Amino acid sequence: MNWRALPGEQVGGIVQIPGDKSISHRALMFGGIASGRTEISGFLASADCHATLAALVALGVRIEQPEPTRVVVNGVGLHGLQAPAHALDMGNAGTAMRLFMGLLAGQRFDSTLIGDRSLMRRPMERAASPLRQMGADIATTAGCPPVVIHAARRLVGIDYLMPVASAQVKSALLIAGLYADGMTRVTEPAPSRDHTERMLAGFGVRVDRSGSSIALCGGQPLQGGALQVPADFSSAAFFLVAGLLGSGSGLTLRRVGMNPTRTGLLDILRLMGAHIEIGAAAEQNGEPVADMLVLPSRLRALSVPLSLVALAIDEFPVFFIAAACADGVSELRGAEELRVKESDRLATMAAGLGALGVECELLADGMRIRGRPDGPAFRAGRIDSRGDHRVAMSFAVASLRAAGALEISDTANVSTSFPGFVQTANLAGIRLHT
Ligand code: S3P
Repeated sequence: MNWRALPGEQVGGIVQIPGDKSISHRALMFGGIASGRTEISGFLASADCHATLAALVALGVRIEQPEPTRVVVNGVGLHGLQAPAHALDMGNAGTAMRLFMGLLAGQRFDSTLIGDRSLMRRPMERAASPLRQMGADIATTAGCPPVVIHAARRLVGIDYLMPVASAQVKSALLIAGLYADGMTRVTEPAPSRDHTERMLAGFGVRVDRSGSSIALCGGQPLQGGALQVPADFSSAAFFLVAGLLGSGSGLTLRRVGMNPTRTGLLDILRLMGAHIEIGAAAEQNGEPVADMLVLPSRLRALSVPLSLVALAIDEFPVFFIAAACADGVSELRGAEELRVKESDRLATMAAGLGALGVECELLADGMRIRGRPDGPAFRAGRIDSRGDHRVAMSFAVASLRAAGALEISDTANVSTSFPGFVQTANLAGIRLHT
């Protein structure tokens, strides 16, 4: 699938952002191993979350989906999962694969995890290696999927200092920790998203946090209940930047997840001079949510503070678009993790920006970009999104400041995180055609 995005500046209105991907995956999984029913509303009906849903069904969990965004999970309890009849296909979803590694490591049956071409190239030892320390029998193929997990005889809790800040690895270990004897403690080198910790607490698990360490005791049962998923800040990010780059009355985004471990881009944009108003905060199942109003703003370049990198890890593709429209040279360092996302996001974005005439320098761990704050920042051209959903959506936003049409190729994977993006973008004023 390919897109054509035409220049057009007027942005405005109220945008409905779909449910949070990270939270939707976790709600399904924890609902699956809880006792009783878990009724999820605001569920992200995307390909990634459906991969998790299908895997749970293959593991013997009965799941109903009366509406695309409403899911009822009939939990089978901590020890109720059953051996799957086939390999579990995680599609494009790195989160699903790493979290299932933790979940399946503690089961009394064998399982195999596979994925699409992109996922089959992503590193899995970062989760497999500490799981082995817990006693898991788990094998990767040269560090990548397929991941083959054999029935565990016994898992034991470990005290693990993570070499990289990764919510996926942290979550895999905490989930395995539910099946381990004793205490599992994970210490993070920098804060990463904490949805697992918050949601496990909501399911009745005692999770102890102290400084940068998170610990739980094995064997604790989960209790299902009602769970409302907030709108995904990472999906809202495209419209935050669109609202800043466009002209018009501003964009309103409703009930977006404002978990501080996710909103690093908000801090970055504000440091760049962005005018973004946040409404009164409410809480939904332990997660803060708020409305946002984004107003057109003239942006200044900045060097991204290192402390914000992990908190904005999925938002750098669209940050680069903002930086290309800011006054001066922006710099991102310490973001080598971007090289092992759905694509090598540093290389994919640098190639796309270069094709549109943006002056940028690709660094081993980041990028330097000279912005053009006045007039078009991008010339017409072709961009290969390399199947990376966030790259495709970022260049759709760039069209607001383009001199001519942008042809964006390989965009089908946008359905992994943002179903209906093309319609939503058009409603907001982005002139995007399939
Ligand atoms: C996620 C964690 C992040 C993020 C990914 C979702 C999660 O990955 O990039 O999109 O839901 O836990 P890492 O934990 O590998 O940084």
